Amino acid sequence: MSRIAYVNGSYLPHAEASVHVEDRGLQFSDGVYEVIAVLGGRPVDLTGHMTRLRRSLGELRIALPMSPRCLGVVLREVTRRNKVRDGIVYVQVNRGVWRRDHPFPPETVAPSLMVTARHGLGPGPAVIESGVRVVTVPDQRWARRDIKSVSLLPNVMAKQAAREADAYEAWQVDDDGLVTEGTSTNAWIVTPDGTLVTRPLGADILAGITRDTLLALARADGIPVEERAFTVAEAKAAREAFLSSTTSLALAVVAIDDAPVANGAPGSITTRLRTLYLDHMSGVGAGDWLAA
Ligand SMILES: Cc1ncc(COP(=O)(O)O)c(C=O)c1O
Repeated sequence: MSRIAYVNGSYLPHAEASVHVEDRGLQFSDGVYEVIAVLGGRPVDLTGHMTRLRRSLGELRIALPMSPRCLGVVLREVTRRNKVRDGIVYVQVNRGVWRRDHPFPPETVAPSLMVTARHGLGPGPAVIESGVRVVTVPDQRWARRDIKSVSLLPNVMAKQAAREADAYEAWQVDDDGLVTEGTSTNAWIVTPDGTLVTRPLGADILAGITRDTLLALARADGIPVEERAFTVAEAKAAREAFLSSTTSLALAVVAIDDAPVANGAPGSITTRLRTLYLDHMSGVGAGDWLAA
């Protein structure tokens, strides 16, 4: 089946969907994006993703090119045309097409909008059962990681370092030795006394939608939660560790660099949260495309 993409007003065969050579997303990474999970053809936590998209755009002073409801229609349409039941839909908005020059183009220049969708959500059962390894790398990103910018070069380099080390993800570490987050995931540990710990929101991490949902699920389930930063050493000595994202959901981290976390198997709190999250995705988290 041929894939279909939406680019600036047209639904096109994937192979023909392209942007202008002076698109500012291409020239300057001057744009933002969202990745939304689709389960059973329905979006998961769409309102959260739309709210974050609008916030990212607002911080960069880029206009949303259509109403949230119309954008919901485009997302639904791309998902439908690609027959995606379980998968992801990707949306990028950038500052549009203009003669290459750093300052913003005139306000009359429309932002670019592109949407793609694809089948498949998350790693397979074997990976979920065994858990994954992460490596630690220095965090080399800019100071506004709360904006979901398409400028992902440090993330790309760090993820490649992880792949070359046969690891699933790289946990980025700030100048104080504290873990910020993964390259496309948030980072979590469970302390020896059973407290769930993840870094508080701020400019140094992305406000993960999955992170937010997991925090609410953990609190509702009576799991003690602390939003604070943790060191690599604390993570290596933790009872459990895991990562979270739209595509990985909650996924056990069983080794950090070459140190196993606890007995090197997924922990019970991680497994419990993953189950709660799967229930959330198919229950209250599964929304309507037009509720954006
Ligand atoms: C840097 C970074 N942190 C965290 C996340 C997880 O965010 P979400 O749960 O909204 O997918 C992502 C997702 O792409 C990310 O790029």
